[in-house]
Amino acid sequence: MAGQALRHRLARPDDVAALTGLMERAIGELQKPFLEPAQIAASRALMGLDRQLIEDGTYFVVEQAGALAGCGSWSRRATLYGGDHAPGRDAALLDPARDAARVRAMYTHPAFARQGVGRLILRLCEDAARAEGFSRAELVATLAGEPLYAACGYRASERFIDDRGGVPVPLVRMAKALQ
Ligand SMILES: CC(C)(COP(=O)(O)OP(=O)(O)OC[C@H]1O[C@@H](n2cnc3c(N)ncnc32)[C@H](O)[C@@H]1OP(=O)(O)O)[C@@H](O)C(=O)NCCC(=O)NCCS
Repeated sequence: MAGQALRHRLARPDDVAALTGLMERAIGELQKPFLEPAQIAASRALMGLDRQLIEDGTYFVVEQAGALAGCGSWSRRATLYGGDHAPGRDAALLDPARDAARVRAMYTHPAFARQGVGRLILRLCEDAARAEGFSRAELVATLAGEPLYAACGYRASERFIDDRGGVPVPLVRMAKALQ
């Protein structure tokens, strides 16, 4: 299907099963160059689907010829990262005048990796956040996500370890001004 256009739309509740499958593949395969197997297993406790993002209408999916190629969201809520099951969630609404919009839940199906899907979703997220008045975007990146965000203008502000999955997983807090 190479060469066919990438199309985007907002995720719907009936996408949940397909999105969950895509995330499983992305987490399991695309983190291999960056993490040890035990860290990848532990990262599953910290990553995954956040249904709130679908309900909020901020979650984009990208398809090519009807196949799900990737997904990713921005958010006007305080949670920085994590799926439905992850600890430390905060659904409080952010103030666009004071707070940075969040970028969340970016996953590309391995069959579509390095074809610009992540870059496209990030642009859609930034445009939508800007349209709601946010002038900054912030995120917590996996090591697999860091090169994408760096290529798109995000700068690392803090490196830390999340060991809530039982094994230390390195993460990077990153931010960007939305001009
Ligand atoms: C991170 C992720 C979403 C990137 O998706 P993608 O669709 O392959 O990214 P893109 O094709 O848009 O990449 C754009 C640019 O980012 C950089 N980049 C992306 N993946 C990279 C990698 N594995 N190594 C080095 N640079 C990379 C490159 O500069 C790339 O441009 P290029 O291909 O022209 O060199 C994908 O690797 C993924 O799903 N990873 C596993 C889940 C995960 O960790 N998600 C991030 C959560 S914060």
